[in-house]
Parts: sequence; structure tokens; C-alpha cells
Amino acid sequence: MIIGRCIGETHHYELHFISDQMPQIGEYVIINYDGKKILGVIENIIRGNLALNREIYDIKTVEMIAGIEENEYYIKGKIKILGDLNDNLKIPRIPAPPGTPIEIADNEILKEIFKVDNPLNIGNLINQNDVEVEVDANSILNRHLAILAMTGGGKSNTVSVIIDEMLKYNIPIFIFDMHGEYVGAEFKNGSINLIQPTINPKYMSFNEIKKLSNISNIAHKQERWFRRAFKKANKLVEEGATSTNDFLKIIHDVLKVLYEDDDKPADDKNNILAVLNKIDDLMEKYTNLFNTNKENILGNIEIGKLNVLDLSQTDEYAAEVLVSHILRNSLQYRKNAIHGELTEILEFPVFYILEEAHILAPNKRDSQSKFWIRRIAREGRKFGLGLCLVSQSPKTVDHDALSQMNNMIILRLVEPEDQRYVQSASESLSTDLINQLPSLNVGEAIILGLMTKIPTLIKIKEFKGKTYGGDIDVIKELSNFQEKENKEIQKQKEDSLNLGYDY
Ligand SMILES: Nc1ncnc2c1ncn2[C@@H]1O[C@H](COP(=O)(O)OP(=O)(O)OP(=O)(O)O)[C@@H](O)[C@H]1O
Ligand SMILES: [Mg+2]
Repeated sequence: MIIGRCIGETHHYELHFISDQMPQIGEYVIINYDGKKILGVIENIIRGNLALNREIYDIKTVEMIAGIEENEYYIKGKIKILGDLNDNLKIPRIPAPPGTPIEIADNEILKEIFKVDNPLNIGNLINQNDVEVEVDANSILNRHLAILAMTGGGKSNTVSVIIDEMLKYNIPIFIFDMHGEYVGAEFKNGSINLIQPTINPKYMSFNEIKKLSNISNIAHKQERWFRRAFKKANKLVEEGATSTNDFLKIIHDVLKVLYEDDDKPADDKNNILAVLNKIDDLMEKYTNLFNTNKENILGNIEIGKLNVLDLSQTDEYAAEVLVSHILRNSLQYRKNAIHGELTEILEFPVFYILEEAHILAPNKRDSQSKFWIRRIAREGRKFGLGLCLVSQSPKTVDHDALSQMNNMIILRLVEPEDQRYVQSASESLSTDLINQLPSLNVGEAIILGLMTKIPTLIKIKEFKGKTYGGDIDVIKELSNFQEKENKEIQKQKEDSLNLGYDY
């Protein structure tokens, strides 16, 4: 269907058109010229009336002209050229001749464009909504994904849709579940494997234990004593010269021996004692985090399942350590696996999903989880480790990590600072696309990156399974509460009457 014709000076990357219909922003069009079949997208539409120009200052005149029946409006618009359909969407070298007809791309053409090799079916085009949009699973696994939106924009729904689609391929997915949203989730294409958020301290690094025991980076002397004890404890474990399998207790005992050595100056003793106390505190405060009988936590990851690490009861420090612990070990085990070393652990690739990425990989603060998130973002693809960062505050997510997310799903995002930041982290996010972000409805998104041939506006489908992420019906909760209270009061009244008391 022809909707208009090119006018004015055309470029090979954009052109203007005039139309006698009302097309929609975001609609795809075809422009045939010089034997090419060029795909474009409508980026901008203007509606005007020559008789009602800006130089009229009298409202009565405007009312009169507007009242004339055969009032001639015009519709002008701008099209961004996306590429030649017959030549792998390469941008043409020659602009279209003015006057060339503009046709709306029909569904068959669009379906062909949004077909990919390993499809994850995540939604439909916003404007041409009987066209389903698929993104490529391999591209996401290799080149990561960011899901960004203001709060309530539809991030968790998107995550659930993607999980369910990925489970079709038996992809092992691992989610750091900050709010316990996925603990009782149900998916069509696979089940849940709950992983306890506990670590055996013997698998923890020097930095991980240091972080949890609150030995500050500037307490150099304490750090030195702790390093010495950590090394010694490891040596004792290697030699089999320990009476317990509790690694923290072994560190504790080493420190105690150091402390009791009478030859030490008082300053040293004070520092050793400080570290000893911190290790004591650590063992007491994080009893729930440590499990000395546990094998490596990564051994629990199962293929074809959503592996859920419930962090809803874990404080921020422990969450940070768990994330860094798991990512650090993943990289190590996957390196070993790729180099042909026989390990029972992580013999398969994994896709990691991190909600609240701005907490785990903050922009302005150093954190261990950030260090390992960056490493996986940079090197993960060599070892089959994919990463999905989810955040409602993109501008506070580490820029380095975010710019390694070569695929993005950006839902409604209103704050200009967030928008600029995301744009600076992504090559393919044009200003025209950015301008669409505030007007998106819940569940509508821009998708871009290697997972799709062209950046596009889509409506993410609604996840039909079960999670606990949606809004709470506060009014209903409160009225239920009130009802329960009333019943309780009534019951107490009856009970006391039965006992012969007059209320
Ligand atoms: N694509 C969609 N289709 C229909 N409803 C949706 C869609 N996306 C989200 N919703 C609804 O909008 C609400 C908020 O969605 P969701 O929980 O996914 O947002 P969020 O971005 O994860 O929010 P938060 O920042 O609070 O975590 C939910 O009740 C959900 O059912
Ligand atoms: Mg959410």
C-alpha cells in the first residue's frame, strides 16, 4: 500500500515524505528504486495546514479557517533508512529520487526480517502487532543482555519471558534472586532448582573473607596479619594437618597461635587481636551463610533449569560476596573445562541473570561483585558464560559492564540522565530511539543489538506462568487485614461470653 512520496532533498540514510494518510511512528516502509528494495522506518510525523500558519494571531480567524469544511491538512514525515532488503540490510550508497513512492512494509516481509536462527519469541511489533518478534538466543548468550527500565516498567516480566523461552533450549540459567521473586516460580518449559545461598569457607578467596570480616582496605597491618593467617590455614589444609573442616576455625586458630606468641611487640599483638575478633564476629554474624560440609556451590547448577539463588534474606555484603564468589569460580571452572581439564563442575555454559545490577555493579564504588561482573562481561563469551544485567537505575550501573552488554531491551525510561547514560554505553541507540523512551507504555520496549537485525519497538508478551514480582494490591491486603482483625475480635467476644463473662 502506497502511503506517500519522497519530497525535498533525499539522503542515503534518511528522507522526508508527504502523505495523504496518517501512518504511525515506528511503522516500517519499503522504498523501491534503482532495482533496490530499501527498508525504512517512520521516525517522525508532522501534521499541518498551510492556511493555519504561525503568523495568525487572531483566534477568531483560526476558528473560521478551521471551520471550513474542505480544509486541507498535510502530513509530512521523516524516514530513517535501515538498509537494502536484498543485500543484508546494507545502507544504500545512492539516495532515492524525490517522488519515489513509499509503501508500508507488509507483514510477510517483516516476519522474514524478525526471523533468527535460534529464536526466543519475546513479543510483537508495537505498530504492526500481528508480526511476532524473535531475538537470537546465541547472540544473547555470547554477547550478554541488559534489561533497563524505570521501576514498574516491566523488567521482571521481560526476564520471565526470556527465561521461559531459553528453557526451551535446555539452557542452564542462574538467577541471583534479590527479592525472592523466582523461588516459587513456574515456567512452561522447565523447572526450578533452588540453590541454598551458603558457601563452604574453604572455597572462599582471601578478598571474600576479608570483605565479610570487615577488615578495611586501609588497615594495612591488619590486612597483613590476616593474609598471613589465610595462607598458613590453606597450607595446613593442603597438608591435611587440621582437626576440623571449618576453614574459618582454622584461620582463627592460626591467629590465636600468633597472638599467644610472647615475643611479639604490643602493636603487633593488638593488630592480631583485632583481626581475631573480626573473624570471631564473622563466624557469629554469618552462621547462616557458611556450610562447612558443602561442596562447591557451582556443583549444584543443573542444566535445562532455572537455578535460583534466593538472596532475599541475605544482607548486601553477603550478597556481594556470594555473587563475586560464584562468578569468580564460574570463570575458573569454565576455563578449566575449555582447556580440557576434567571437572565435574560447570561442564556446560551458563546464563547468569543479575537483578539490581546497580547494587551489585555500582558505578561510583568499588565492589568485588563488580570486579567479577566486569570480568564475565569482558571475557565470558570465550568460556560460554552469558550475563544479563537488570536495573531500574541505569545511570548508577558500572559503565564498563553496561557497555559490554551488546544487546539491550529498554523499556520505559523517563529520566534524561538515565537515557544519556544508556546511549553512551550503546552504539546502536540513536537519539530518535531515545526520544521514544518516555512515551512507552508498561511492557513496551526498544530492542537492539546483535540479537536482532534491526533495532525495533516491541510489546513484550505477558508472562503467563507464576512469579511474585507484580504490584501488590495494597488496598486489598489492608482490607483483608482489617477483616481478619474484626473476626478475631468477634471470636474473643464469643469466647468470653461462653465462659460466662459479660463483655
Ligand atoms: N509485557 C507486559 N504485558 C502485560 N503486563 C505487563 C507487561 N510487563 C509488565 N506488566 C505488568 O506490569 C507490572 C510491573 O511489571 P514488572 O514487575 O515486570 O516491572 P519491573 O520493571 O520489574 O518493576 P520493579 O522495578 O518494581 O522490579 C506487573 O504487574 C506486570 O504484570
Ligand atoms: Mg522487577
